[in-house]
Amino acid sequence: MIYAGILAGGIGSRMGNVPLPKQFLDLDGKPIIVHTVEKFILTNEIDQIYIAVPKNWMQHTIDVLKKYHLDKERITVLSGGENRNETIMNIIRHIETTRAIEEDDLLITHDAVRPFLTRRIIKENIDNGLKYGAVDTVIPAIDTIITSTNNEYISEVPVRSEMYQGQTPQTFNISLLKESYSQLSESEKEILTDACKILVVLNKKVKIVEGELFNIKITTPYDLKVANSILTGGIAHD
Ligand code: CTP
Repeated sequence: MIYAGILAGGIGSRMGNVPLPKQFLDLDGKPIIVHTVEKFILTNEIDQIYIAVPKNWMQHTIDVLKKYHLDKERITVLSGGENRNETIMNIIRHIETTRAIEEDDLLITHDAVRPFLTRRIIKENIDNGLKYGAVDTVIPAIDTIITSTNNEYISEVPVRSEMYQGQTPQTFNISLLKESYSQLSESEKEILTDACKILVVLNKKVKIVEGELFNIKITTPYDLKVANSILTGGIAHD
């Protein structure tokens, strides 16, 4: 089975003082999360779509899906976890309550607030996920990346051609991800903000596929303006 997990369990604190978690804010006439869910519902290869939201926003999500005719059998709303990886694990636990995980079962995880992903990106995640077991979507770094361990002086200037920026989807063989996560200590679980890193710290291979410059994550009010421009300027394509 191929499952999609839409990660919408955050509250969007960096968006500032807004009445709704950012995934429910309007983008060109409909909530950001609706744009994202529409991309997945159009992908026939995906058997079930799980949308994980903050517990007190579950009913709101159900109402929004209904309003935009997305109250389909293929979609389930559930509550997210206390951090992003816990949200992913909640989705896996929820899947397990409905049927046993099989060897090839795949979970495509995606930030609800990246509404511009394309069919190609989803397809490449599925194909490579089935082949390699773990996939990250990335774009080559455009700016030179510098690191600073003390936030004051440069520590390193890594070779730019080896630098990438991570996006989502991130796709995993469910058994592989579960088994890897269970090997981490509680403190490791707390510091790992990125799901692919769960595998990387255990020296497991994660295949990279190419994202898109316009596959942005809406994090701040500035990003919301950029997202509107991407839409109205016809920059995103599928
Ligand atoms: N996310 C999630 N569960 C959490 C935290 C985050 O599913 N416990 C989701 C967010 O809803 C978002 C995605 O992960 O779609 C990317 O995270 P981020 O942009 O950091 O979202 P927030 O945590 O909502 O934002 P902020 O850090 O500004 O509060």
